[in-house]
This record gives sequence, C-alpha cells and structure tokens, in this order.
Amino acid sequence: MAKAGSLMETVFGGYGPDDLQMIKAPPPVQRPSGRAVSVFGHERLPAPALPLLDDEDLRNALLPTRHDPDRLWSDLPALRLESAHCAAMHLVVNHREDPVGLLYDHLRTRMLQALQERGWTRIAVASPTRGCGASTVAANLALALARRPSGRTMLIDLDLRKPGLAAIFGHPDPGPLRDVLTGLQPIESHFCRVGRTLALGLNGRAEVNSAELLQEPATADALEAVMEDLSPDVTIYDLPPVLEADDALAFLPEIDGILLVADATRTSAAQIRECERLLQDHTQVLGVVLNRAEDSPARRRR
Ligand SMILES: Nc1ncnc2c1ncn2[C@@H]1O[C@H](COP(=O)(O)OP(=O)(O)O)[C@@H](O)[C@H]1O
Ligand SMILES: [Mg+2]
Repeated sequence: MAKAGSLMETVFGGYGPDDLQMIKAPPPVQRPSGRAVSVFGHERLPAPALPLLDDEDLRNALLPTRHDPDRLWSDLPALRLESAHCAAMHLVVNHREDPVGLLYDHLRTRMLQALQERGWTRIAVASPTRGCGASTVAANLALALARRPSGRTMLIDLDLRKPGLAAIFGHPDPGPLRDVLTGLQPIESHFCRVGRTLALGLNGRAEVNSAELLQEPATADALEAVMEDLSPDVTIYDLPPVLEADDALAFLPEIDGILLVADATRTSAAQIRECERLLQDHTQVLGVVLNRAEDSPARRRR
C-alpha cells in the first residue's frame, strides 16, 4: 500500500493512502459539452464551440467507403463488350460509324434537356407489349448517356419477370438482382460497370412475384441506397411491358418519367393511347420512341 501511495505521490503530488479510495472511484464528473475541463485545477477556459456532428458526418466517419462513389465505381468489376455480340444484339458501341448511334445521341441530348429542366434523374423505359425493343432502346440510351465523359449513368433491369439486359450486354451470369433489392447483397458484389461512366444492375433470375417485389418499401429503400452510393446523374430502369402485367404501374412512384418504346411494325396507335391513359395520372410520358422504323410498312411503301 505504501508503494502504491508513493507512486501516487510521485505522479499526483500530495495524495496519501487515505485518498486511494477516492482515486480508484472518482465521483462522476459532469462535463458540459463543448467546454474545456481542466484536470490540473486551472482556471476553466472557454473552448471554441464545436460544430455538432450531423447524421451524414457520422455515417461518413463510420462507413467511409459506402459514401465514396469514386471508389465504389472503380471497385465494380468491369464488363468488356464484344463487338460481334453487340452487333448481334443491336447494341451501338461504335456510334460514329453507325447512323443509329447518332439517333441515340439525339435522343440522349433531348432527354437530358428535359431532365435538367425538371430536376429529374430517374427514367423508366417500357413498351406496350413484349418484344417491341424496350430493353434494346434502354441499353442503347444508357450507352449514349455514358458517352459523356463526366456523366454517370446507371441502368437497372427491373423486368424481373423476363430479364433481358444481361443477354444484351453479354454477361454470362449476373446472379439474382433480388438479393440487392432485398438488401441481402451489397451493390459492389452484384453490379458491374462498362467503362467508367455506366453502372449496370443486371438480373440473372426471373422472379414469379415480381410486381409484389417492386412494390415492397424495402425495394424502394434499396434502390435509393444504390443511388446514394453510386451517385449517378441519370438512372434508367428497364421495365416490363405496360399492357401485359402490373409491374410497370407498380413501380411508377419510384420514377420521374417514362419513355415508351413502340414497334413501328406492329404497335397500334390504340395500344399507345391505352398506355398513356394508364400512365397519365401517375407519371410523365417523356415521349414515344419508334423502334424498327426502317422496317415499318409505311417506310417500305416509299
Ligand atoms: N431496331 C431493331 N432492329 C432489329 N431487331 C431489333 C430491334 N430492336 C430490338 N430488336 C430485337 O427484337 C427482340 C426484342 O427486343 P427487346 O429489346 O428484348 O424487346 P422488349 O424489351 O420490348 O421485350 C430482340 O431480339 C432484339 O434484338
Ligand atoms: Mg425487355
């Protein structure tokens, strides 16, 4: 005890064995936040007021990588596009050599102008019926958007009934997107990127209860988290046909506008009108893209 006392004397100067209890269990000190507390009995000096940490600061301090979009983008596995595969899938990669590439560049620019005017970022692409080319147009539009060196585009396959984007981009097995939508998998273990400006959320498994999954609040939360993490300036969702299931309608609360893709060889004006009628109270139809216009009977008669 004497040794302990002498040690305490050496360190603190003046404490004896009788003080030991007090040293072992000092009374709780109330420390007012943002003020200096002197342990040596100095006069208390007012400390500079510390700014309070908000939620964002705390999240950044705890999870620095989650809120570092540059790092997250570079961590995504890169998908290399094969030119022969792209040509077979009607995917325009050498846009300067392909007149269709110029059309997509025009569509991109007009769409960006519309988005900027309204402050929108989330666009869906859908057709009235299956096979009109919605996924093909969504993929080409995303590639055209990704040709902006300082832009970031995200394309997500939300045709959960019949996912098509993985085949279009030539990804052999992206796994189930459901795992990201339900929060089971983080983005970086599922998403991939083309170049440095296009992130792809592909899907390798058809879901039976797709409309229900799209309406789950957890799905909206997961997609919001993806957008927060990757911070794209435009997000494109490839949706199932509007007239064949309620998936597209179920997802309308999560988008700012929709681009309809009609097939010039078989979509009727009545089908377009029916889509517009179904959509009009829930979202803005940004326009109707006429796919296969070169093959349309009207064009062939000229
Ligand atoms: N402009 C086009 N010219 C020729 N074939 C096309 C064109 N657009 C799409 N296709 C083909 O039509 C089929 C259906 O296209 P897809 O984009 O999957 O339609 P959707 O998503 O509307 O069901 C695919 O085989 C696709 O390669
Ligand atoms: Mg499709």
